[in-house]
Amino acid sequence: MPSLTKEEVLALDKQYNQHPWLTGTVEPLAIARAEGIYFWDYDGKRYFDMSCQLTCSNIGFGNEAVNNAIKAQLDRFAYVAPAHAFEAKSVLAKKLVELAGGGMAKVFFTCGGSDANEAALNMARTVTGRAKVLSRYRSYHGSTLGSGNISGDPRRFSLEQPAANGFLKFFDPYVYRSDRAFESDAAASAYYLGLLESQIQYEGTDQIAAVFVESVTGANGVIVPPDGYLQGLRELCTRYGILLVCDEVMAGFGRTGKAFGFQHWGVEPDIISFAKGVTCGYVQLGGIIISRQIADFYKDHLFQFGLTYSGHALACAAGVACLELYERENLFERVASLGKVLGELLEEQKVKHACVGDVRYIGLFSALELVKSKETKEPLVPYAKDAEGVMKRIFGLLRERGFSTYGRENNINVTPPLTITEQELREAFVILDEVLTIVDKTFI
Ligand SMILES: Cc1ncc(COP(=O)(O)O)c(C=O)c1O
Repeated sequence: MPSLTKEEVLALDKQYNQHPWLTGTVEPLAIARAEGIYFWDYDGKRYFDMSCQLTCSNIGFGNEAVNNAIKAQLDRFAYVAPAHAFEAKSVLAKKLVELAGGGMAKVFFTCGGSDANEAALNMARTVTGRAKVLSRYRSYHGSTLGSGNISGDPRRFSLEQPAANGFLKFFDPYVYRSDRAFESDAAASAYYLGLLESQIQYEGTDQIAAVFVESVTGANGVIVPPDGYLQGLRELCTRYGILLVCDEVMAGFGRTGKAFGFQHWGVEPDIISFAKGVTCGYVQLGGIIISRQIADFYKDHLFQFGLTYSGHALACAAGVACLELYERENLFERVASLGKVLGELLEEQKVKHACVGDVRYIGLFSALELVKSKETKEPLVPYAKDAEGVMKRIFGLLRERGFSTYGRENNINVTPPLTITEQELREAFVILDEVLTIVDKTFI
């Protein structure tokens, strides 16, 4: 391995690497090493990984069991074409189907989340013979042509080409920003589902192949649906022969305190897309879990989709090791209880700081929504127009103090590794508290 200085790494990066989603001057952090819930820069400064990178490094860095499983697979073989069977892929598919429960039957592996949603889109259109798909504004499902058009947040704008038809958007059950107050979760669910049902009727009840939803919206500010919403959505989809695709790329694998987010509400999707926590980033992997009905359809229909590296052997070995670790260490149950502490810490920040309008959380999946005024709920930065880079500066203040995370629009996402201890969580919140005090004083 070449051993470069920080300056050399950054100079090469600046000259040769195109970074995703960023314009203007990019100031990447050069990372020297990482272990557990921390990583270090070249100056020896330590950072709490309070977002698990992109909400994927659920078990932290340097896990020995996962490293060893990858090395053992490497010694056997690193890669074979997706048409072949091998132990890790067979075992992982079985584990995933069992984890999903209900009527799920088979897995198709991809390399990540975007291509998992492409596969889901392809299947939904083929199985139903319909073209249109519905998804929500506050959503992210990937950045390839199909998955990017399913995404609702502004990252879709550059992909919305005239050729990509049939991608329709509907409103999220984003109760904090609703134009009305609801007496109960049931009332909120009924309102949003009523709007969606009207939209389905206007678009043609026999025209829509699928509804894509993140069971708990992730990157766009951790929007937890009101109770009854996903159950009602399931009924609506069934009524009109529409497939329900739950995108569990971010919410899956214990993030919410259950294997998959939708399991909090007892629904059974037709397709589940997954990635991230399946291998915790040790090797990239994604895929879809499909229902018995869809699996049966493909007994005598061609699945016109494939990727050279889908279900890569090293990734499947990492996946088996991650799922075993989740189970061995009871991580999902641990998240459910540690999530209560996270919730309390967030509520304290909301009471203490004028800039915190709302906090949303489930398990170790959370966001703080920043506002100029709690009364008017005016967002700290306007939607899709943070021209002055206010949020970037706030993330910079956090990073300077060793708290690494990200967020979209006026949200700070907090999604730490599932292995974080209560004490580490409390230590990290001291930094967050300090930065929110600065925001109160200087940004609102
Ligand atoms: C909910 C969700 N779906 C899909 C994706 C796309 O996954 P990938 O970046 O692995 O293509 C993401 C990525 O953040 C995501 O959060």
